[in-house]
Amino acid sequence: MSGRLATEYTAWKKLQQLYDSEKTKLVLRDLFSRDSERFAKFSREYVSSDGPSVTFLLDFSKNLVDENVLSTLLELVREAQLESYREKMFSGEHINTSEDRAVLHVALRNFNDWQIGEPGVNDVSGVLAHIKEFTEAVRSGAWKGHTGKAINTIVNIGIGGSDLGPVMVTEALKPYSKRDLKAHFVSNIDGTHLAETLLECDPETTLFIIASKTFTTQETITNATSARDWFLSSAKDKAHVAKHFVALSTNTKAVTEFGISSQNMFQFWDWVGGRYSLWSAIGLSIALVIGYDNFELLLKGAHGMDKHFRTAPLEQNLPVLLAAIGIWYNDFYGAQTHALLPYDQYLHKFADYFQQGDMESNGKSVTKGGQRVDYETGPIIWGAAGTNGQHSFYQLVHQGTKLIPCDFLAPATTHNPIANSKHHRILLSNFFAQPEALAFGKTEEEVRKELGPNASEPLVKSKVFVGNRPSNSILFPILDPQTLGALIALYEHKIFTQGVIWGVNSFDQMGVELGKVLAKNILSQLEKPQDVTGHDSSTTGLIHYYQKHRKE
Ligand code: F6P
Repeated sequence: MSGRLATEYTAWKKLQQLYDSEKTKLVLRDLFSRDSERFAKFSREYVSSDGPSVTFLLDFSKNLVDENVLSTLLELVREAQLESYREKMFSGEHINTSEDRAVLHVALRNFNDWQIGEPGVNDVSGVLAHIKEFTEAVRSGAWKGHTGKAINTIVNIGIGGSDLGPVMVTEALKPYSKRDLKAHFVSNIDGTHLAETLLECDPETTLFIIASKTFTTQETITNATSARDWFLSSAKDKAHVAKHFVALSTNTKAVTEFGISSQNMFQFWDWVGGRYSLWSAIGLSIALVIGYDNFELLLKGAHGMDKHFRTAPLEQNLPVLLAAIGIWYNDFYGAQTHALLPYDQYLHKFADYFQQGDMESNGKSVTKGGQRVDYETGPIIWGAAGTNGQHSFYQLVHQGTKLIPCDFLAPATTHNPIANSKHHRILLSNFFAQPEALAFGKTEEEVRKELGPNASEPLVKSKVFVGNRPSNSILFPILDPQTLGALIALYEHKIFTQGVIWGVNSFDQMGVELGKVLAKNILSQLEKPQDVTGHDSSTTGLIHYYQKHRKE
């Protein structure tokens, strides 16, 4: 985030030399057989220092690093002045330089632990109190719809950060949910998303939560307007909107213009980035689903990780370690992607969530100083819940031609022990087996021994696992709100650290603008073929084909 090109750092050059000279020696089979202490040296247990108790183990021993590589990676972190930029973030300096904004999602979960002098920070506790009061009223049935019935369905209408965080967290913490309060999330502008959701809603008992930082996002405002029309077609009187629509936004004017009163608005501030906003008023749907106290535990779990990130020495600092190791593959091994593989069905949206978190943050190719980078920045993030992935894409991860660093995550204890069965043990046996298989593979010799002397050569070759494929494993006692909070913050700070090293601004998202502008222009041309002007022949041809075949 210094705006310097990462390749200028002395440690970067050293890492390049190390990669060139050592890469053939960084073989996991050898690294483990040479050092019986490898697990102890390359794993760390996180224990929260205050707040709710959170603990988990990060095992990074199955990475293509030795002590020398790791210490050089940490030299790079130091040389990029992570410690100084971290302080700038925590103290509210405007490190989002292109938008001249502070980056203070950490202030949303700070509970006045340290002073931050940015306007709005002192109002955080008031918004939390509003969330508490409102969620308790809705969950208890005290909040009534316009015909006097209690709310039994909520529909969060938002997109990007105003959707993905609430979706991911409410799925992850389903065991803590109020089962008789149904939660839906509508994001896509495709009318199908709203239409299918409304089929499951009763206007007398549904609460719509319009979640948009800017309150100008086309998808959200269009969906919200259609939801309001649907509601009014049965409720008739506009005065009833007050009982069924609330807004989460920084834009009071636009919220009021939409017809939602300021009492039904939950505020946040421009220093909360969309993809870091689940901790803010955007978390209202989370608090409704899991209850305010659990929402607070989520925030406090994240705060514990903030403290760790802010104070732990780099060698012990888990976000820093994950970031540094990620740089090693991304920038020296040429890995293009990074897989997030939770062995917990409740975390089935975790990778989707960090697709935005990581790719919108670090998918940049100029530094803060405006120079085009001559190295790779943010990786492609993807993944799915185990063991489903094992039966689809793991083949490529094990034997394909690409290097795909993976993070495996799992809870030691399940929320759903199924009687007379071994579901969770089977799940975890896979969680342990996959990193082992990736790391150590299966040699040709082992395959020959297994198949016997008559095996054909092609068969032998096809059964070899080259191994040496890196992974991190994160194992936690159980997926509770505080642990989830800490895990999300862990990855947020990893992303921050990598952004600092690459010198990019991790907190703007200029790359989403161009498509929006073009779509707006095209929307005005869709009526008649003669209106379609100013495009290339491909775009014109596509629009003409659509105009010929549409039936609406
Ligand atoms: O995709 C661009 C983006 O601005 C995201 O960063 C943001 O999370 C999303 O759109 C939604 O924005 P808003 O909350 O303002 O509707």
